[in-house]
Amino acid sequence: MSEAASASAAQTESQPPIVPIDQIARWEGKPVTIRGWLYNLRASGKILFPIFRDGTGLLQGVIVQKAVSPEVFARAKELTQESSLIVRGTVRADTRAHGGYELDVSDLQVLQLVPVTDPFPITPKEHGVEFLMDRRHLWLRSQRQNAILRIRHEISKACRDFLDQEGYLLVDAPILTPAACEGTTTLFETDYFEEKAYLTQSGQLYSEATCAAFGKVYCFGPTFRAEKSKTRRHLTEFWMVEPEAAFATLDDMMDLAERMVTYIVKQVLANRRRELATLERDVSKLEGIEPPFPRITYDEAVEILKRKGSAYEWGGDFGGTDETLLGEEFTKPVLVHRFPAAIKAFYMEPDPERPELALGVDMLAPEGYGEIIGGGQRAADLNLLLRRIEEQKLPKEAFDWYLDLRKYGAVPHAGFGMGIERVVAWICKLEHVRETIPFPRMLYRLRP
Ligand code: 4AD
Ligand code: MG
Repeated sequence: MSEAASASAAQTESQPPIVPIDQIARWEGKPVTIRGWLYNLRASGKILFPIFRDGTGLLQGVIVQKAVSPEVFARAKELTQESSLIVRGTVRADTRAHGGYELDVSDLQVLQLVPVTDPFPITPKEHGVEFLMDRRHLWLRSQRQNAILRIRHEISKACRDFLDQEGYLLVDAPILTPAACEGTTTLFETDYFEEKAYLTQSGQLYSEATCAAFGKVYCFGPTFRAEKSKTRRHLTEFWMVEPEAAFATLDDMMDLAERMVTYIVKQVLANRRRELATLERDVSKLEGIEPPFPRITYDEAVEILKRKGSAYEWGGDFGGTDETLLGEEFTKPVLVHRFPAAIKAFYMEPDPERPELALGVDMLAPEGYGEIIGGGQRAADLNLLLRRIEEQKLPKEAFDWYLDLRKYGAVPHAGFGMGIERVVAWICKLEHVRETIPFPRMLYRLRP
């Protein structure tokens, strides 16, 4: 308690400034305060080498017995992994050190000592995935998870920056909705007072309304699918960024998607080199992501699959393996457009040349990551939509407001949705989307 109390007074006038580890280079030769946790401790006789972690990076400290008080040395010697600390010392450049700097420690306060009898469960040794997933709240402290979630941040920021620069307005869509957007088989239902509500599968229908109000809009939020699929690409809760533009066509959206993905990759390469290195990502694969991306029709995609020995038949939707096969044909993301209308959502505009096709597009990532974007041009005709809603047995009352959009100033419009986790998995080259989101929700996982 006394130590915790004195810790809160750490930043008094006389104390050296609190510096995040990733800014340490600017403090060479100067005294600083570091607040964080013990990552590791190595002892070599009268010298201790603790490694500190503060969320922004790692910093090795050097504690020489002669140079500190006996209390500080004793305290440091007893430190356990993930004990919380406030450390003071002087920054010294050292080319051999991780990050190029070390801290010559002069003082060290312990806020909470992790007991030796109940040590931090995640150690540098290998742990099984389920063990780690059960301890996700602690696993997030590891360097690899830190790198992934920093890249996730960069990707989310790049989406916003890109769309903002392109003149798109952020207009949030609701999460509680009265109806399905992407088919009724993956809806999460919840009680909503006297009626039923569903967790949104996509903000698209609302963005179609707001694009008629603002021209170019996007929503960016959590979306939900009660997917019974247990694959490395499926979450039940994931984040989608969804631009939608009035007077836009399928081609406009293919151009936008291509520019957006290029921008995202460039931003990650420019700002997250260190994190990519932590993940041992082969960046040469990302450096080649430049427009134009290959564009093929669904028909052409089916030909490629057949040539690659797949038993795929025209008319079906691509499964994970088909997407992987197709993506592997190209070194850049590929845009597959003009799908059979029968396998796509009710809101798709038919291709005027071949009405059995929908003006929809999927973007498949390279290196086997499958679909990262789905979208297209929206059906403009009221009667067509009415017929589709009936055919697909969707509750018409719930779509009345949506149908208004075709009565009051209908225009051609188009948009797409990009799943953030799929993009993070690809850019980080992860085995599974479970590591791309802080607390993943999957078929068999609601905790922690
Ligand atoms: O292809 P989807 O289902 O398209 C839509 O929801 C459209 N309404 C979007 C729009 O046009 N505004 O989903 C879009 C993207 C997919 O390409 C994929 O990246 C991601 O969302 N996605 C998932 N990500 C993780 N887990 C799941 N279960 C996902 N389902 C879709
Ligand atoms: Mg899709």
